[in-house]
Amino acid sequence: MDSVAVTRRTDVDEAEAMNTNRSDKLDRGAADLLALMRREPGRVVSGASLSRELGVSRTAVWKRVNRLRALGYGIESTQSAGYRFVGAPDTPLAEEVQLDLATDLIGRDVCYRPSIDSTNALAVEMARKGAAEGTVVVADRQILGRGRLGRSWVSPAGCNLYVSILLRPPMAPAAIPQITLMTAVSLQAVLSQSAALPVRIKWPNDLWVGKRKIGGILTEMASEMDQIRYVVVGFGVNVNLTADALPEQLQHTATSLSLETGRTWPRVPLLRSILRALDEDYASFCREGFAPFRSRFIQESMTLGRRIRVRTPEGETAGRALDITEQGALRIRRDDGSTLDILSGEVTVLPESPAGEQRRAGIRLNADRLCVEVQACFWLSILETPTRCWGFSRGPN
Ligand code: BTN
Repeated sequence: MDSVAVTRRTDVDEAEAMNTNRSDKLDRGAADLLALMRREPGRVVSGASLSRELGVSRTAVWKRVNRLRALGYGIESTQSAGYRFVGAPDTPLAEEVQLDLATDLIGRDVCYRPSIDSTNALAVEMARKGAAEGTVVVADRQILGRGRLGRSWVSPAGCNLYVSILLRPPMAPAAIPQITLMTAVSLQAVLSQSAALPVRIKWPNDLWVGKRKIGGILTEMASEMDQIRYVVVGFGVNVNLTADALPEQLQHTATSLSLETGRTWPRVPLLRSILRALDEDYASFCREGFAPFRSRFIQESMTLGRRIRVRTPEGETAGRALDITEQGALRIRRDDGSTLDILSGEVTVLPESPAGEQRRAGIRLNADRLCVEVQACFWLSILETPTRCWGFSRGPN
């Protein structure tokens, strides 16, 4: 009698799970089966032993297998022998992202959506409803991906990373630009190390390889006068995007890891590396402040030392990018000799005269005593192109 009752309850659970958790989340039953099969990858395990270990009917096992397959898990089956786990999908499902993640804060909760308007929009909604600090929202595709300055972010399915992280730093709103810059520094480090690419940061938060944009960051927040309520740090990284998936106007200004390296990059391990780096960097930012990130930003900046034009809400100005201040502002020396600190704006890198190249190298050495010569070769190849046309952000239609 007991076993009938158990079987019936299990079948109801399975049916419910199939209806409610169709594509975005593993239900408990499928997750248990996955954990079991993962223990013996490549080995055939009989349906009978799986049903015994899980305490459910063989039909329930079969239904769970089908749910896993629907999410992209590779599970082979033979009528007589049983099931064999052959691999996980490269989809940023919560279970995959959290596997061996081992972070303290970021990614303790992961919310995956196969398709969403914007991960930032959902993360903001979750923040308002009290979601925990460190919650990660990740999607396979965005329909209304948001870029900076009201632009859209091209977000096709199955190839890139679209991620938003909810933070609740115990700080005043003045820390927001620093958090954005800290995120840029973390992403730059992971992308350049993982793919051995010369990824550079264009102030405030664009990631570039050569003359093309590979990623961007969008920070949204709510705060009281002297205390941040929440910050949502959203980032998009083009991982396996192909040129033909880009709209015409971005064909020559955007790139991806695969376009740069000629190979495909698994997204899930890359996302885990990014979350680990952010977990560590955010903890150190909360402990030690912005100073270490300021140095790292200066080191990896492609803006400092350059002649630039900046468009801010107050108007447009031109000059030379001198420094990143302790607040995270971009300090420029204007053509009339005065200096100006800018916290938010749109930068256009301008071409250099030969004399300007020398001045630029001097400024950079003063700023951080770094290897100017090596980076100058890289910078020299940057042409004058307005930022707004570069990267993945499309102007409002
Ligand atoms: C930029 O304009 O450079 C910033 C782009 C930020 C895009 C990311 S993708 C994940 C997150 N969700 C969004 O809607 N936007 C950010």
